[in-house]
Amino acid sequence: MDQPTMFKPYRAAADIDVLPSYFPIPGMGILPINAFLLKAAEPVLVDTGLVLLSDGYIEALSSVIDPADLRWLWLTHCDQDHVGSLHRLLKLAPQMRVVTTFIGVGKMSLFAPLPMDRVYLLNPGQSLSVGDRTLMAVKPPTYDAPETTGFLDTKSRAFFSADCFGALMSEPVENAADIRPEDLRDGMVTWATVDAPWLHLTDGIRFAQSLGRIRALEPKVILSAHLPAVHGSGDELLDHLAAVLAAEPFVGPDQPALEAMMAKMAAK
Ligand SMILES: [Fe+2]
Ligand SMILES: [Fe+2]
Repeated sequence: MDQPTMFKPYRAAADIDVLPSYFPIPGMGILPINAFLLKAAEPVLVDTGLVLLSDGYIEALSSVIDPADLRWLWLTHCDQDHVGSLHRLLKLAPQMRVVTTFIGVGKMSLFAPLPMDRVYLLNPGQSLSVGDRTLMAVKPPTYDAPETTGFLDTKSRAFFSADCFGALMSEPVENAADIRPEDLRDGMVTWATVDAPWLHLTDGIRFAQSLGRIRALEPKVILSAHLPAVHGSGDELLDHLAAVLAAEPFVGPDQPALEAMMAKMAAK
């Protein structure tokens, strides 16, 4: 795969569809970029994909719900891989309110104003009722933006973890159990060094406590923006994250490395 590509939606749990895409990173593999549809009594969309793939994203979403029926958009954070179709959706889904934080609204307003009557501010520790269930806002243990807020769906016990638990991969799959365990560990550790470089400065005991808070939620499904669905408690993912503190910090390719990469691609 050498282009960002939208894939067909797949089901991760009874009420949850994944809207997957993949983004190739030269020399490093592919990064999954997922949005989700939670078919609650008041339907919740989680994130809006890449701006590059907006047409494919709207098409994939429309295959699992009429966007006009959406009631909530849970924006995990405002990075470009999560807000790509936000303003199209505000038009397509007139009843939909955007769940984010004060910082999230501020950051989105730098790009285009978000109408305040379409916003719903929610902080980690607070909850949102979506008709047949409550969503509990949770700060994931790793993140790359201060507004990041994941959540636990208290009905399915799916934990939507934003960028946390992401991994670089070699090929698309719909279930993280289909990734070889050592590839999953290496891909997760590399991703975490890229996405949360501050982990190397973090106190190990306090970080272990933050991992323990996720374990205590007793999730049954882990839904990361950057990993295929994980069925189970995700204990092994927490162990992989604990290993990141001792991993080599990520340093990106420099100019000579970029030129070598481009020469190699041109020779293909
Ligand atoms: Fe991010
Ligand atoms: Fe992301």
